[in-house]
Amino acid sequence: MGPAALRATVLLLLGLRVSATAPPETAEPRLVPPRKSVPPSCDWRKARAVTPPGDQGDRCRACWAFASVANVESLWFIHFKKLYKLSVQEVLDCSGLKDACAGGYPWDAFGTIYTVGVTTAAHYPYQARQGQCRWNQNYVLRIHGFQTLPSNETELAALVAKRGPITVIMNARLLQNYRSGIITRHLSHNCNPDLLDHVVLIVGYGQENKIPYWIVKNSYGLDWGEKGYFRIYRGGNACGIAEVSLTSTVGQDGAGGRAHRARCPA
Ligand SMILES: *[C@@H]1O[C@H](CO)[C@@H](O)[C@H](O)[C@H]1NC(C)=O
Repeated sequence: MGPAALRATVLLLLGLRVSATAPPETAEPRLVPPRKSVPPSCDWRKARAVTPPGDQGDRCRACWAFASVANVESLWFIHFKKLYKLSVQEVLDCSGLKDACAGGYPWDAFGTIYTVGVTTAAHYPYQARQGQCRWNQNYVLRIHGFQTLPSNETELAALVAKRGPITVIMNARLLQNYRSGIITRHLSHNCNPDLLDHVVLIVGYGQENKIPYWIVKNSYGLDWGEKGYFRIYRGGNACGIAEVSLTSTVGQDGAGGRAHRARCPA
């Protein structure tokens, strides 16, 4: 599926939003995956590079903001050793979207953080509804830009291990009844990889009893799934998880890969 068809599909499912269809000009060229062999497992939580999963609430479809802000939080830690809990609410309010709680795209969130910066969640707490943009110049950080990533899951795993957690768009159908374990059953006929309606953060990957999986941070609260996370089969584009993935870039050397500071624990 080409970018245009892809975008149309995503568009359809994220609330028929017509205003923000293309990643804006801050998008950088596709990231080329590192050549080295891929480590068998990686879990950025063990490096304390991941903040606790948030809770978007029933009234606001803010997954796109949660998962994108979470990417920035983790990358900032990996590069600069400071773990901030950043303001999802500021991204909602300052996104320029007419109805940010009806859905949005990761590039809406990255574009907002690129343009106005973002402060901490403590300064600008989440309210599960869109409000006035209360931007001020005391933001704690801004990103350098953002990039789209390949759809090949081997290459994605290499990028997660080398660069950090990545934001992905997927089909949320099998998350409705999820409790724990690796989502593997009925994937092909129960979870259409072309119907993408939810945005989440891949924070690592591994293998259990020879079943490869992704470790994914959700935004349904800490009581949901495996303490706010779920695991899903890795290698079959399960629920479309590899279709659209992105990462922000932070710091001057973000695009070149030289900024790598922390390593992903196995
Ligand atoms: C995915 O990438 C790996 C490593 O670059 C490569 O060996 C493999 O053939 C690719 N798979 C597909 C389906 O393109």
